[in-house]
Amino acid sequence: MSFPSHRPRRLRQSPAVRRLARETHLVPSQLVLPMFVREGVTEAVPIGSMPGVVQHSLDSLRRAAVDAAAAGVGGVMLFGVPAVRDAIGSGADDPDGILNVATAALRAEVGDALVVQTDLCLDEFTDHGHCGVLRADGAVDNDATLERYAAMALAQAQAGSHLLGLSGMMDGQVAHVRAALEAEGFVDTLVLAYAAKYAGAFYGPFREAVDSQLQGDRRTYQLDPANAREGVREAVEDVAEGADIVMVKPAMPYLDVLADVRRAVDVPVWAYQVSGEYAMIEAAAAHGWIDRRGAVTESLLGIRRAGADAILTYWAVEAAHWLRDAL
Ligand code: PBG
Repeated sequence: MSFPSHRPRRLRQSPAVRRLARETHLVPSQLVLPMFVREGVTEAVPIGSMPGVVQHSLDSLRRAAVDAAAAGVGGVMLFGVPAVRDAIGSGADDPDGILNVATAALRAEVGDALVVQTDLCLDEFTDHGHCGVLRADGAVDNDATLERYAAMALAQAQAGSHLLGLSGMMDGQVAHVRAALEAEGFVDTLVLAYAAKYAGAFYGPFREAVDSQLQGDRRTYQLDPANAREGVREAVEDVAEGADIVMVKPAMPYLDVLADVRRAVDVPVWAYQVSGEYAMIEAAAAHGWIDRRGAVTESLLGIRRAGADAILTYWAVEAAHWLRDAL
């Protein structure tokens, strides 16, 4: 009769041993809350496909950011929902545009208690919904878009953004924005490159959140969901161009890419748990088909385990409270 000499269950025998043997930890400062601010509203507007998430008014945004800071989250990522759009996304670099106004208001409210971050992309501001400006034939014009991004970067830095989230997936966007910032003396502004951003179905609820005007898809600039090596290459190139942080997005369907990027670069790697990932768990939980808190916590832990140093998640504040309660 043989007894197993290896008894891996020893490490699982009690909460105290399990806690000591735990490989991956999740703390509030690793969570970043994405927030939407809508021009012209006086109260927060619920987003149907993202229960619990709202389009903020300037006032409700300020209050929510104070709550986020009190919960200990690492930062907030702002998205603007303008009242008027045009072909070149003029509202994006207008100092009076909603995103820039909200950024300045948040900095005035929370100062440096949080890392105040801004989405740097044209899709919320264009009347065609693409992330860049269009050529006469309707294709997205990469190099003309870079000029728009540079103007946007300066407007956001001027408004007080600590960190610019470059989510447009144009070639050369990191180098171009970095050069524009340096030329104007914004040497401390952080650049987060959405390096490996995949074109797919998981952004669906976000399109409602920002009232997206997009017809068609983003497959000429965002990555093909079938390609992992290409995502790693994008991340390596973005680091060479001057990115301080690189990101993989969405998170759960791309954990392999996240792990590969983690091994390929030595800067912080973040992941974005996107609107569709949020909506799936919320919907299942609302039906009583899944344990909400357990599923949210497990999803965040899985993303950390795969290699994310920080996570953008719509559950940031609630998860931060759970984590503190658990201490
Ligand atoms: C583009 C942008 C998108 C998201 C973040 N930045 C939408 C897109 O690429 O279509 C999606 C975020 C989410 O789904 O939660 N500015």
